[in-house]
Amino acid sequence: MRGVFGFKRLRLKIWRRCTLLFFLCWAACWLLGSTFLFLVHRSVFSERCTDEKSHRILARLCLDYSKGALTGDLCEDLCVAQKLVYKQCLYYDRGKKVIQADWKGQPVILKSKKEIFSSYQRLRLLDEVETQDVPETELLLMVALEVKNVLGLELSNNTMGPLWTRRRDLHWKAQVASMWSLLQQEEYIYFSLLQDFSKHVLRVIGSCGHFYAVEYLTAGQAWHKTIFPLEDAVGPSFTGTKRKVKAITDIALSFLDMVNHFDNDFSHRLHLCDIKPENFAIRNDLTVVAIDVDMAFFEPKMRDILEQNCTEDEDCNFFDCFSKCDLTIRKCGAERANNNLQVICDKIFRHWFSPNLRGHTISFPLQLQLQKAVHECAKPEPKDLTQHQQTSLHSLSELYHLLQASQRELQKADG
Ligand SMILES: Nc1ncnc2c1ncn2[C@@H]1O[C@H](COP(=O)(O)OP(=O)(O)O)[C@@H](O)[C@H]1O
Ligand SMILES: [Mg+2]
Repeated sequence: MRGVFGFKRLRLKIWRRCTLLFFLCWAACWLLGSTFLFLVHRSVFSERCTDEKSHRILARLCLDYSKGALTGDLCEDLCVAQKLVYKQCLYYDRGKKVIQADWKGQPVILKSKKEIFSSYQRLRLLDEVETQDVPETELLLMVALEVKNVLGLELSNNTMGPLWTRRRDLHWKAQVASMWSLLQQEEYIYFSLLQDFSKHVLRVIGSCGHFYAVEYLTAGQAWHKTIFPLEDAVGPSFTGTKRKVKAITDIALSFLDMVNHFDNDFSHRLHLCDIKPENFAIRNDLTVVAIDVDMAFFEPKMRDILEQNCTEDEDCNFFDCFSKCDLTIRKCGAERANNNLQVICDKIFRHWFSPNLRGHTISFPLQLQLQKAVHECAKPEPKDLTQHQQTSLHSLSELYHLLQASQRELQKADG
């Protein structure tokens, strides 16, 4: 009997010790984890913009406007009528300036690569001529040269309308100087030129000096459970797993549309080399929009960027765009070895198509097929480039097919 009691006491003792040890370990991990998070958090947010700084930037813009140095269709609303009102800033100090504002009750975003107008290169022509008599054709030629320089594309005169249309009522020097500051921003050129051809790029609303206004959308967030905060895009009443899964399926299909469109619908393929949730947004109708195209390149420019000297494949990686090192000539291949779809599968779709998010709203076999297809699509490229293109086409059509099947299942469950 004593033996049994002794054994029980020993077990209790061990159990108590284990619990204490477990508790101590848990407390230590918690402490370490919080310290780590605190440090990361502080280092990320310490360089965030402040309201004060952003107000200063806009005040300076308006001062330059009042002096007649710059102009634009939104300057009056921003600087005089107060119809364009500052709300908050969204940028990191070292990055481009991204400011949320309210324009006649509608949210908009103001963007500029640099803070101050005079930091942009000034057009020499403006100091050389005094009158308005610079022929329109000469200005258009300069715009075309700048576009060729920035995008590596040759454009005809009639496609440059969104970049330069003179307004007779405004001071012409300020107009040309403002246009020139905008033309030094690749993003502005992309957004303006692709406006009428693509629903997957931001709409430009107007400009004032070096700042241009674009539509305000629901941007992606790396840590958000559904990447895009769906309640913000569709409305606060947007709840329920099934509606969320349906929305994610629609957004994923829109991503595929965008990939297909950027690959095939322009005169050259458009490569996205900085693919992450924060660089995409959704409209209310769940269309995916590329909101940060600083690292987007049409094929000719992409080839120039990739074709570098190398000693190994790693030398041929340019953010999300890779090519292969030809060791015999020690040069990177000009052709990109991966593609937009592959990176989107890897950095966005993988997050969505995991069992815990989709719950039981879609049948298990279809869920498995989707996970497998996303895994295949995200896999590193095969050695042979033609084989790679075929694999990618196959991935695209398979994903389309599976997502459409998910949509049908969800609709059937509704009906
Ligand atoms: N049109 C927009 N609508 C809503 N949020 C936006 C918009 N444009 C940018 N943002 C927000 O601002 C952030 C920074 O903008 P982005 O153009 O990506 O600048 P950066 O080049 O500094 O990354 C984005 O990640 C997004 O959260
Ligand atoms: Mg960005």
